[in-house]
Amino acid sequence: MDDTERERVLLVGGGGREHAIARAIAESDAALFACASNRNPGITSLADGFEPVDETDPDAVVAYAESVNATLAVVGPETPLAAGVTDALDAAGVYAFAPRQAEARIETDKSFQRSFLDEHGIAGNPDYAVFEATDEACAYIDEYDGDLAVKPAGLTGGKGVRVTGEQVTKAEAKRYLRDSDYDRVVLEERLVGEEFTLQALVANGDVRLTPAIQDHKRAYEGDEGPNTGGMGSYSDATRTLPFMNETEYAAAADIVESVVDALPDYKGILYGQFMLTSDGPKIVEFNARFGDPEAMNTLPVLETSFLDVLTAARDGEPLPELDFADRATVCKYAVPAGYPTDPESGALVTVDADSAGDARLFYSSVDARADGIYTTTSRSFAVVGTGETIADAETVAERALQQAGDDGLRARHDIGTAALVQRRIDHMTALRE
Ligand code: AMP
Ligand code: GLY
Repeated sequence: MDDTERERVLLVGGGGREHAIARAIAESDAALFACASNRNPGITSLADGFEPVDETDPDAVVAYAESVNATLAVVGPETPLAAGVTDALDAAGVYAFAPRQAEARIETDKSFQRSFLDEHGIAGNPDYAVFEATDEACAYIDEYDGDLAVKPAGLTGGKGVRVTGEQVTKAEAKRYLRDSDYDRVVLEERLVGEEFTLQALVANGDVRLTPAIQDHKRAYEGDEGPNTGGMGSYSDATRTLPFMNETEYAAAADIVESVVDALPDYKGILYGQFMLTSDGPKIVEFNARFGDPEAMNTLPVLETSFLDVLTAARDGEPLPELDFADRATVCKYAVPAGYPTDPESGALVTVDADSAGDARLFYSSVDARADGIYTTTSRSFAVVGTGETIADAETVAERALQQAGDDGLRARHDIGTAALVQRRIDHMTALRE
């Protein structure tokens, strides 16, 4: 292929997820251009061009896409989706592998999400109610016979949810609503079980599923502390997880497919967050993008060319079937001390691809300055180990974290350990009895 035929892919976003996407694109013969609010050194080292832009400004993203003659685009995070960046790129003739604003509402508006799932009779939607008045929401909490998940309807980076009976009492949930003064909240039946993520690559009505993953939202070991964007995640060498069987995976896959049937124009990644209950998988939420960290479990074991998926989607061809290496993965995030409630920025990050050993290193919200790479107030970098078993992958990830040191950084060392995985299995076994 000469240079005029080479695909020119624009990547929007600058987190760990986007570093993983950048690497997947860089594995093929495409020119990569990236734009984001932050300068992620992992992405800039792979890209042929980088432009600092407000990634939620559709005009700025389109201007950069046009300046580099992009032939394709991938939008990583949810905030540009909500801002209509995909719509603007598509309108400018740059096919974006990402949902448009209307379809992205499946993530960006949780009240729309629940009513949409309801109206289309999609299985696994829990009981829910939507409130605009805080007093009415509080009265519902008092009257509801059972525990509830309390969710602001808009985007909160995964940090806005409070679950009664788990993190907070009903009185604390009401105080949270009164103190926060959200415009609209969704109150949902509390689902009990083990959470997992099932993502699919979607375009032209085709759905290509990926292996199930378990993320860890809580900040501290033993699933304690506040919710975060995700502290780390693992996947097995099969498409299921150790606490899940094939039938349960298939039930979640059916739910993802039925959402795409109801959204025929959907394109990009559709992310299903499920609670595996004693009664099968139930829907915690849908997202309109790869998970972060889940993209870092998925893309390193994807053996099919990601670029081939993008071009097939754009050209209206059937999406290729996806092949995955039979490898388990464990991803662990290093975050600034004090994250997420009181993060301290400015620590020097000394790890690089060489010192990460057999693990892959993905930079996230770091600040690349002339004299080194520094932490910001959000997740700093992730290491991903792969192996024949989850335990092997965990060892590889943990070795890389030891190399990275822990000055000003913190990680959840329990993610992917045999002890924590066994706890998940025991939990599901107990619920099924
Ligand atoms: P979300 O922002 O919807 O992903 O919610 C953040 C976290 O809150 C989820 O990962 C779950 O751990 C928890 N959560 C959300 N909805 C429910 C629910 N209906 N029942 C139990 N836990 C929930
Ligand atoms: N890992 C959770 C998310 O990306 O929303």
